[in-house]
Amino acid sequence: MSSSRPLLLFNIGQLVTMQSADGRGPRRGEELKELGVIQDGAVLCAGGKIVSTGKTKDALRDGWVKRNRGAVVEIDCRGKLVLPGFVDSHTHPSFISPRLVDFEERIAGASYERIAEAGGGIRSSVEGVRRAGKALLEQKILSSLDEMLAQGTTTVEAKSGYGLSLESELKSLHAIRTAALKWPGTVVATLLAAHAVPLEFEGKPWEYLDLVCEEMIPQAAKRKLAQFVDVFCDRGAFSEEESLRVFESARENGLPVRAHVSQLTRTPLQHLLSFGPSSLDHVDHVDDSDISLLARSNTIATLVPGANHFLGLGKYPPARKLIDTGVAVALATDYNPGSSPTTSMPFVLSLACTQMKMSPAEAIAAATINSAWALRFQRSKGSIEPGKDADVGIFNAKDYREIAYWMGTNSCEAVVANGELVRGQKF
Ligand code: NIG
Ligand code: FE
Repeated sequence: MSSSRPLLLFNIGQLVTMQSADGRGPRRGEELKELGVIQDGAVLCAGGKIVSTGKTKDALRDGWVKRNRGAVVEIDCRGKLVLPGFVDSHTHPSFISPRLVDFEERIAGASYERIAEAGGGIRSSVEGVRRAGKALLEQKILSSLDEMLAQGTTTVEAKSGYGLSLESELKSLHAIRTAALKWPGTVVATLLAAHAVPLEFEGKPWEYLDLVCEEMIPQAAKRKLAQFVDVFCDRGAFSEEESLRVFESARENGLPVRAHVSQLTRTPLQHLLSFGPSSLDHVDHVDDSDISLLARSNTIATLVPGANHFLGLGKYPPARKLIDTGVAVALATDYNPGSSPTTSMPFVLSLACTQMKMSPAEAIAAATINSAWALRFQRSKGSIEPGKDADVGIFNAKDYREIAYWMGTNSCEAVVANGELVRGQKF
């Protein structure tokens, strides 16, 4: 709860509220385009929450606002665009160094899988994390979170997954927690100990999974260090059977699940879906039967086109087919040193539109309200509606389509997180 003064944003050119006619579930099909735009809008926030939304002329005539003018911080948005803070529902910020050798090898023609088999890939980020003190890790995470905030992201899911030992996975989760305490937005921590089999367990994935399931998951749950458990279920990572063991353990320890699936090859989804994962992410190699299973479920399919772009794949997840079949789709950066080193949700929206043929409106909905659903935060995040957390971005744009249109520029001028103006100034 914020202790700051109430905040009135007015003269908003386009206020994208994300309010929709139904609003009971994640957005599917046509509903994904409903942005609830108010022209010449205003938003009143108090106690860290949205109090009301409407037209500027009505807000300025409001009795309460008139009586409390001295107490309210007024932000004249001068015709700019206001969006709900982006919800980046898939990131891996707990690492130390970029993977520049992998980058060059891929440019020279090696694939992501080949690089991993040859000793690069996820495992090559492990030593840095194991050697790092918690303070350095925290500093790295916090600076990534700050970069995200500067581009309009106010809620972030942050995974561990480069420690791959009890000590270093818990150290990563601790660093995420302490970085989160210093950051004005909201962070959700996920234990991704089942990201890769570490070198010392080479050829013995089930022994590593004993450690993951009998020690790491129970400890993360008991110490409330993670809100989710994730697993990388794909060729070269963990099999379906191994991943189900991870899900079982998460369930026994009271933690909800999510997974990386079908990024490199097709992952069978049926049994994973029986655990009701909040989200299944990547979904590049899904077939028609997977798509209809996803459409009938409440699981969000989180697309991370930054990874396809950075790996130079030329091929992207079938966003159009997923959306048109009724799958609830979200967008996230997948910020990580191996496949998607970007903190920018606007860049991801741009890729979603140009490469996956999502409309700009669909991309905004996928990056706000549906990604809030993917984190089980749909009641507090992802839209600008009374009672929700006051998380908004103010952009130097007249039209919401500009967010995906301008490539690689940051038009975010100010950010309100949990009711506080945390970036930018009154203008
Ligand atoms: O989401 N696919 C697995 N995990 C990450 C990549 C991690 C890495 O290469 O460091 C992803 O793409
Ligand atoms: Fe990922």
